[in-house]
Amino acid sequence: MPYDPESDPEWWRRAVIYQIYPRSFRDANGDGIGDLEGVISRLDYLNDGTENSLGIDAIWFSPTFPSPMKDFGYDVSDYCGVHPDFGDMAAMDRLIAECHKRGIRVLLDWVPNHSSDQHPWFIESRSSRTSAKRDWYFWRDFGEDGAAPNNWRSIFGGPAWQFDDATAQNYLHSFLIEQPDLNWRNPDVVAAMHDTLRFWMSRGVDGFRVDVLGMIVKHPDLLDNPPNPDWKHGDRDANRVLRTNCQNLPEVYDAVAEIRKVLDEYPGRMAVGEVFGRPDQLARYYGTASQPGLHLAFNFHFIGQDGEYAPWDADLMLKIVAGYEAALPAYAQPCYAFGNHDRIRFISRHHGDGMGHLRARAAALLLLGLRSTPFLYYGEEIGMEDVDVPEEQMQDPARFLWEGRDPERTPMQWDETTGRGFTTGHPWLPFGAAGLSVAAQSGDAASLLALYRRAIWTRKRTPALHSGSMGDYAAVDGVFSFVRESEGERIMVAVNTVPESRTLSVAGDVLVATGPRLGPVDEVELEPLGAAWVRLR
Ligand code: GLC
Repeated sequence: MPYDPESDPEWWRRAVIYQIYPRSFRDANGDGIGDLEGVISRLDYLNDGTENSLGIDAIWFSPTFPSPMKDFGYDVSDYCGVHPDFGDMAAMDRLIAECHKRGIRVLLDWVPNHSSDQHPWFIESRSSRTSAKRDWYFWRDFGEDGAAPNNWRSIFGGPAWQFDDATAQNYLHSFLIEQPDLNWRNPDVVAAMHDTLRFWMSRGVDGFRVDVLGMIVKHPDLLDNPPNPDWKHGDRDANRVLRTNCQNLPEVYDAVAEIRKVLDEYPGRMAVGEVFGRPDQLARYYGTASQPGLHLAFNFHFIGQDGEYAPWDADLMLKIVAGYEAALPAYAQPCYAFGNHDRIRFISRHHGDGMGHLRARAAALLLLGLRSTPFLYYGEEIGMEDVDVPEEQMQDPARFLWEGRDPERTPMQWDETTGRGFTTGHPWLPFGAAGLSVAAQSGDAASLLALYRRAIWTRKRTPALHSGSMGDYAAVDGVFSFVRESEGERIMVAVNTVPESRTLSVAGDVLVATGPRLGPVDEVELEPLGAAWVRLR
């Protein structure tokens, strides 16, 4: 469907959204770092209007703003600009226009919890205790006996407070020292951040992925967090304490409602929040019927929680999906992702027995079969795996404190040439194994890429799949299944999580499957770790 923000305001309910990590998608100028021109040159791969392309409806770009790149763009020094590594404002305008020409919506990554320490706001704030922007960030004296102002931990590890010589006070940083937290209880901060949304929407941007949204509002007294009773020595340092007083506070939902009002000033715009927590906590981000919140809130429970990765297991799938459906208000649309730039890639997470590639095929049909706005991380459609990055080539500062995220951020593998079609220069991170590329899979009907294309286009033309209801959940003998339904059409999605064949006694038409058998069947054969979409008779 051609781009028209006015006539199709609920586009995001039916959309398949693709995440691009801009440093790693395509490098047009040969400096080894992906850029906006590089993305433009590959948009037809994502959607050229035909079933030879992937068929995605929107792109979420990880941060493209000016930044010292301490956290690769999640340390923003100007919310209204473009980092020169990626291009300039003219390139961004061109990118937006080229996406819209193809009916692709554009989501930018808005980082409201913290700025870079090089943002002019923080430079001013840190300059003196009486600076007009002092209260835009959190400045506190040491506690008694030189203790930190409270016991909060940085998500990347270590205390969340940094002493600053200039004014002899500490500032709060929930992530890196170079990422000071903004004070969302200060109305000037709220107004300034809202304006950054307007800036981009005025330029045609269709929405935002909102970074660590759940942490933007802190307890007014910055009270200590309670100790985590489950924390053991060797566990992640950040989890020593629960985030009771810095995450999912009741007031954050009010801040979300205000953000929603700003989005509603522009037709057809949307926001998806990076939020963490229990189903009931995620559900609250959707707001209420009278006070709407986010359009979408990520549910990462298929990836895992609190740093633990989830197994590929039918009972767990049933629990996640049915539990979340029960927690959501009727108008809320779930939003699942199986990967992103912070977590080990899908295949590498599920490859303990060497069969991650089979699970990746079934994962495509699960992700795209669920009632959800699915998010697909670049490269998942060709089965990219985590790449072993030698110590001296590692880039992610979080590797010292948390887990290195370089392996899942390596360049997209377009073809089999030395530069993999990504660059003519030296790539900023090493490539994965040869033989795994868009070119290698494009003409192969049995490839993962072909399966993704078939599934996405089938979903697009099948109302039961893109907007139907969901029910009849079951987890039996390692098979998770459910039924999508719209206007009398019923489609069963079945995922076999065990490495043995399974037979389901249902008759129908196999629309898409991990195996070769499509068309009418009297019973459905699921190959080991396979999956199928079956129109029921
Ligand atoms: C989010 C981002 C992650 C970043 C962090 C701090 O979790 O996804 O990449 O490091 O926020 O901004």
